[in-house]
Amino acid sequence: MNDTSLSPAERVSLLGFSDIVRIRNRVLEMKSRGERVLQLEGGEPFMTTPDFVKQAMKDAIDANQTRYAPSSGIPPLLESIRLKIGERNHYQPATEQIIVVCGGAHGLFCAFQTTVDPGDEVMFFSPYWTPIKDQVSYCGGIPVLIGWDEIRDRNNVRDILEKRVSDRTRVIYVNTPSNPTGNVLTRAQLQSIAEFAIAHDLVVISDEAYEDLVYDGEHVSMASFPGMSGRTISVYTLSKSFAMTGWRIGYAVAEGMFMTPIRKLVLNSTNGVSTPTQFAAAAAISDRSPRLAEMRTEYLRRRDLLVRGLNEAGFRCPSPPGAFYLFPDVRERLGGDSWKAMELLLARTSIASVPGAVFGPHGEGHLRMSFSTSMEVIEEAVRALRTL
Ligand SMILES: Cc1ncc(COP(=O)(O)O)c(C=O)c1O
Repeated sequence: MNDTSLSPAERVSLLGFSDIVRIRNRVLEMKSRGERVLQLEGGEPFMTTPDFVKQAMKDAIDANQTRYAPSSGIPPLLESIRLKIGERNHYQPATEQIIVVCGGAHGLFCAFQTTVDPGDEVMFFSPYWTPIKDQVSYCGGIPVLIGWDEIRDRNNVRDILEKRVSDRTRVIYVNTPSNPTGNVLTRAQLQSIAEFAIAHDLVVISDEAYEDLVYDGEHVSMASFPGMSGRTISVYTLSKSFAMTGWRIGYAVAEGMFMTPIRKLVLNSTNGVSTPTQFAAAAAISDRSPRLAEMRTEYLRRRDLLVRGLNEAGFRCPSPPGAFYLFPDVRERLGGDSWKAMELLLARTSIASVPGAVFGPHGEGHLRMSFSTSMEVIEEAVRALRTL
């Protein structure tokens, strides 16, 4: 095969593989050898998909809801999303402004492909969820990173953003609550970002993956600010709120100028989400039981226990107001190289984590640990930390 000129398209080399998947594979290998690993490296809800959601899918299959659906989504799901956004996210899209996608990752991919041309600059806070940088690069976009630390305790985020804006800036990506830090942007901070976006005529891509996981403060959607719904593409997923990571379903909300290209991207790629899955999603989103509040209570117990354990072990670990990740500073206890720190922690305590450097340069010196696991595993991790 050496004398062939076959090669993949150049742009594909702009995409990377996931370091987190590499770490997870390593953990699974250790476990298959019978080693005990305390798995805090993941990014999945610890609970299982609720039974009523599973039942809705079974019912849809039994009712032969197994054919092509409209590629933008089945009407009952679009209606349940429309109602939910009005009630909880405090803006009111029309049904035509909603599209069902194969999870948040797919929605974000479509959002960046719709808005970013080669040479355009895309601002986002760092450390960031890793695929974002690849998705921006795949469009030929240029990431412009703003450290989360730069805006800590500031209501006026705009002053910081003004220093990095250029005539090539086109998009700002906002993820609150954030993966990997668990940071939640306050209403005042988001208002300030909205004013900045309007002043520079930017698009906002708002990643709402962890909207239901806020413990301190409130979740505010970017599109709910006056003048923002026309320039915001909001991307939601059922992965975290309903423990549906494997179902691959989410939705995006945008006005016509952006929705039309997103529709074309979906039509020409996945051509929609599996029909029975959409019926299950409609049941999940229509649920008005206290399930989400109960889920938050469970996460909160886990967060508080692990935060205390880490601080007692000498890590500097703030209590994150949202999501299900801790992002402790490990420099004093394990050194500044987060890959080495991850290895050290694994070797000494059997705790698997993710090096902060995976989430960009601002993550160095930190580890990401998920508290989305059983109380038993967290208790064991806290005991193991005492022996460090
Ligand atoms: C910040 C953030 N956005 C989006 C997603 C996408 O999730 P999914 O593709 O499972 O919907 C994730 C998943 O971990 C995430 O952490």
